[in-house]
Amino acid sequence: MNSIQIAIDGPASSGKSTVAKIIAKNFGYTYLDTGAMYRAVTLLALENKLTADKVDDILALLAQHPISFGRSEDGQQLVFLGQRDVSLAIRDNDVTNNVSWVAALAPIRERLVELQQEIAQAGGIVMDGRDIGTVVLPQAELKIFLIASVEERALRRFKENKARGIETDLETLKEEIAARDLKDSTRAVSPLKAAEDAITFDTTGVSIEGVVQFISEKAKEILDK
Ligand code: DC
Repeated sequence: MNSIQIAIDGPASSGKSTVAKIIAKNFGYTYLDTGAMYRAVTLLALENKLTADKVDDILALLAQHPISFGRSEDGQQLVFLGQRDVSLAIRDNDVTNNVSWVAALAPIRERLVELQQEIAQAGGIVMDGRDIGTVVLPQAELKIFLIASVEERALRRFKENKARGIETDLETLKEEIAARDLKDSTRAVSPLKAAEDAITFDTTGVSIEGVVQFISEKAKEILDK
C-alpha cells in the first residue's frame, strides 16, 4: 500500500495534534487539525455576536470567509479565515470555552465534515479530532483513540499556556477540560467516541515520542502488508 488515512481521535489535550503533526511529517502526509476548523467557526460566531439559533448566519459568514491552512516560515501550521491569519485568535480562552456549542450544531458539522473529506482526497493524511474515525473517515486504515487522565491533560495545557506567556490556574483548567469532555461526549450529533475498530491508547505518563512510535509502528504494519 502506498499511503493510508490515519484518524486520531480523543478528548481535549490528549496529545492528538502534537503526535499527529509529527507522524504526518515523518510519513510525508498532509496533516489536518479539525479542531482548528471548529475553533475558526467559533471565532466568527463570537466576533459577530451570533448564537446557536443563528446557524444560517454563521454558515453564511463561513461562506464569505472560508477556512484555509498555510505554513509559516518556521514550518508552523497557520489557519486563515478568508485572508486573515487567525492561528493565535482561535486559541483564545473565549473561543476554547465556546467551541462546544458551535461544534454541537449539525449544519456546521455537515459543512466542516464535507471540507475535511475533500482535503482527505489528496492522498496520505493524518487527521485529528473527535469524530474522524466514526464520521469523517470511517474507511481510514488506521484509527487511534488517545486518552489521558484529566490531571495530566490539564497539566499539559498549563505548560503549553505558560510557554505562550498565558497565565492560567491549574484547577480551573481541570474543570474546563472536564466540562468540555462532558459536552463533547454527550452531544447528540457525532459525539466523541472511539470507533469500533479504533485502537485505544492511554497516553498518561507516556512521552510524545512513545505515542508517535506506537502509532508509527501500527501504520508501518499496514503499509507493509
Ligand atoms: O481539538 P481542539 O481542542 O482544538 O477542538 C476544539 C473543539 O472542537 C472541541 O471541544 C470539540 C470540537 N471538535 C469536534 O467536535 N469535532 C472534531 N472533529 C474536532 C473538534
